[in-house]
Amino acid sequence: MKIAVLPGDGIGKDVTEVCLPVFEKLSLPIELYFGDLGWEFWKKEGTPVPERTWQLINECDTVLVGAVTSKPQEKAEQELNKELQNSGLKYVSPVIQLRQRLNLFANIRPIYSIYREKSQDFPKFDFTVIRENTEGLYAGLDFYPIPNKLYEFVQKRHSIQHAWQMKKPEDGAISCRLITRDGLCRLLRYSYELAQKKGIKKIIWADKPNVMRSSGQFVLDLIKEIGKDYPKIECEVKNVDAVAMWMVKKPEQFEMIICENQFGDILSDLGAGIMGGLGLAASANIGKNKSYFEPVHGSAPKYEGKNIVNPSAMFLTISMMLEHTGYLDEANRIKKAVFEVINLRKCVTKDLNGSATTIEMAKSIIERC
Ligand code: NAD
Ligand code: IPM
Ligand code: MN
Repeated sequence: MKIAVLPGDGIGKDVTEVCLPVFEKLSLPIELYFGDLGWEFWKKEGTPVPERTWQLINECDTVLVGAVTSKPQEKAEQELNKELQNSGLKYVSPVIQLRQRLNLFANIRPIYSIYREKSQDFPKFDFTVIRENTEGLYAGLDFYPIPNKLYEFVQKRHSIQHAWQMKKPEDGAISCRLITRDGLCRLLRYSYELAQKKGIKKIIWADKPNVMRSSGQFVLDLIKEIGKDYPKIECEVKNVDAVAMWMVKKPEQFEMIICENQFGDILSDLGAGIMGGLGLAASANIGKNKSYFEPVHGSAPKYEGKNIVNPSAMFLTISMMLEHTGYLDEANRIKKAVFEVINLRKCVTKDLNGSATTIEMAKSIIERC
């Protein structure tokens, strides 16, 4: 199996480097090919995903990403190489490019309790957040100033309920949430299939249909349509704010939560929080033929090269990748090793109240594999 390894920026590089020896330790028939991705390439070349990286991705069976830095518009333009400035280049986060261009419509983010607390009543939870990964509020329909036709349209909708004051298109900005039939149906089918495979009886669509009433209704209609093919699985629609609260208060009640892109981004970081932090949360980006895997955390620039961050999220990400590609035994061994090292509490990083370095914790996990 050929894996494209794209360490990216910041701690993405740190956690990738210390985790990769696990492939050798497990004697997996895997070839690693390193590629360029991230902020450095945006600054130098005007794209965070150079064409040669797309080619590499194309030639490999799957992709492992560390993390990337994504700065807001103004900063992105300022940091661009002088010769490339004012040439109309627009920065788009490389992870969003990968998800959209490769059509990786399902972002799987497992949330489970790793700590075995001494107290008997500590809740054990184990569920999955499935985030739509190609559209929703991330569709790129994000405007400032508001384009003229859209501005006129919005002004015509002015009413007592919508008493906004704009005198010109520069007085506002708009982000549209796009949900398409194709986009959502493929996500729903994937989620129902996964639920069936895992023996899950109830899945939850977390949204805001009490406020976004039209797009909310569209989703309800599609759930009804697709759900007919899965009569043994109930899909309950819940308000996303309440789901967030219950994820903290009673996470053991959940089996699978599905949601729109942006809501999934937020709920999955919340999920990382109840697991014990972003240093523990893994993810898989899945499409029909392609996939890529990455920790949920970002590049945490202030910790880059300091050898203090937790490598567990990257190990658990590699475990997800191996599970997806059919190396089940090896996937389980890595997951088990991470759980053991964390629960022994002897060799854990600062975020888990330990004093081990990234390298020490990674070595300890690899030894246990
Ligand atoms: P972040 O995930 O990089 O870090 C937030 C905080 O979480 C850190 O300050 C740290 O306290 C903790 N943390 C994260 N990873 C950890 C680890 N492995 N071990 C221990 N603690 C860890 O999020 P941010 O600060 O909002 O973003 C920093 C940059 O990363 C931004 O440019 C952002 O756009 C980018 N980002 C990229 C990805 C990705 O590549 N998939 C994801 C999120 C954010
Ligand atoms: C994530 C990240 C990305 C997102 C950013 C870096 C674009 O936060 O993978 O959760 O918002 O999806
Ligand atoms: Mn996120």
